[in-house]
Amino acid sequence: MQTHDTVSDMQTLARGARAGGRTIAFVPTMGALHEGHLNLIRLAATKGDVVVVSIFVNPIQFGPNEDFDHYPRDLDGDLAKCREAGAHHAFLPARATLFPDDYSTYVTEEAVAEPLEAVSRPTFFRGVTTVVAKLFNIVQPHVAIFGQKDAQQLAVVRKMVADLHFPVEIIAGETTRDADGLALSSRNAYLTPGQREAALGINRALEQIKSMVALGERRAERLVAETTHLLSDDRRLRVIYVAVVNPATMHKQTDVEPGNSLLTLAVWLDQTRLIDNALL
Ligand code: PAJ
Repeated sequence: MQTHDTVSDMQTLARGARAGGRTIAFVPTMGALHEGHLNLIRLAATKGDVVVVSIFVNPIQFGPNEDFDHYPRDLDGDLAKCREAGAHHAFLPARATLFPDDYSTYVTEEAVAEPLEAVSRPTFFRGVTTVVAKLFNIVQPHVAIFGQKDAQQLAVVRKMVADLHFPVEIIAGETTRDADGLALSSRNAYLTPGQREAALGINRALEQIKSMVALGERRAERLVAETTHLLSDDRRLRVIYVAVVNPATMHKQTDVEPGNSLLTLAVWLDQTRLIDNALL
C-alpha cells in the first residue's frame, strides 16, 4: 500500500488509473478505523481495481464545542488495518493542504441536510459536503462507499452528487455491529464499560421496533413514542431525536412504508453523542 499526502500526487495517480482503464473505489474516513470502516474497504475492493482510503479528521465538520481536539487518532494502526483490508492507496492530507488559512469555498446541500443531525450540529453537513466534494476532485473515484450507520450523511452525499453531477456512484455499506449489537463507532472509544452497557439499550430499542413493524404496526407516532420510552429506561441515555423518515429525503413519515422507511435516532450518553438507525 502506498501513502500520499499531496493533492498533485493523488490526482496523478487517479489520472494514471483512469487512463489504464482501472476503476477507482474510494472510502473516505476520519481514521481511528474499526471493523465497520474495514468492511467498507473490503466492499470497495469488490467494486474497483484501485482501492483508495482517505484519513483526514476534517476540522470544518466539528462545531466549536465538539471533540475535534480529542477525536481518537492512530495513524500507524490505521495504515496497518487499511493494508490488511485490501486498500492500495491511503490519502493522508495535512490540514493546511485541504484547508489553508485563506480557504473560502464551501458546498452546502440545503434540504436533506436541514433536519435531524443538523438541528444540534448546524455546520456539520456543510463540513462534510465540502470535504467530500474536495476529496472527489482529488481522488476522482468511479465509486465511493459510505456507511448506512450515518444514514443522513449518506443521503446528503447522494443528493450533492446528483445535484452537482459528480460522476461518482455512491454505494451504501451496511452497519457493522459488535456481537452484542452496539454499532461500531470511533467515538465508542470514549465509553467506559458501564456506559457501553447503557449504549446497548440503543440497538435493543431498534430491534424491538423492528419486531413491532413486523407484527404490523405502521404508525410512526407510535413507533417514535415507543423508541423514546425504551431508550428512557436507562437514565444515562438522553434522547436528542427519534424519527421515522424517508431514507432519501429525511422527511418525516406518518406511516411506515415497508422497505422505504428509516427509524433514526441520536442520544447523549453522558458526554458522548451516539447515533444509530434501522431500515424498517
Ligand atoms: P468516519 O466517521 O470515520 O466514517 C467513515 C465512514 O465509515 C462513513 O461512511 C461512515 O458511515 C462509515 N461507518 C462508521 N461506522 C460504521 C459502522 N459501524 N458500520 C459501517 N460503516 C460505518 O463519516 C465520516 O468519517 C466523515 O464524515 C467523512 C465522510 C469521512 C467526511 O469527513
